[in-house]
Amino acid sequence: MLVCHCNIVTQKEVEEAIIALLDDDPWQLLVPAKVYHSLKKRGRCCGCFPNVVDTIIRVTEEYHRRSDTGGAEIVTHLDRVRALRGQYGSRMHERRTTGNRAA
Ligand code: FES
Repeated sequence: MLVCHCNIVTQKEVEEAIIALLDDDPWQLLVPAKVYHSLKKRGRCCGCFPNVVDTIIRVTEEYHRRSDTGGAEIVTHLDRVRALRGQYGSRMHERRTTGNRAA
């Protein structure tokens, strides 16, 4: 499934890039620009970034759950990040409707 239409990036490529970055440093802060940079791409319209943030949260949760390193604390922190996104960040999605978010 395509996540980014501007760069022709699939969901699987994003997930693999996130896992590769987490393998390098499991505690680094991942943002869409960093993931795209590792794919040698960059945001153009950036309309896909909210989806990429959701993917980063989901894949990071799964990664740390599998690695058994303080999983309970990490999930709590990610729940707080998710709540902050709902509170501040992801209501408008670049003026796109929620239906537009599914690539
Ligand atoms: S859809 Fe990804 S940069 Fe435009």
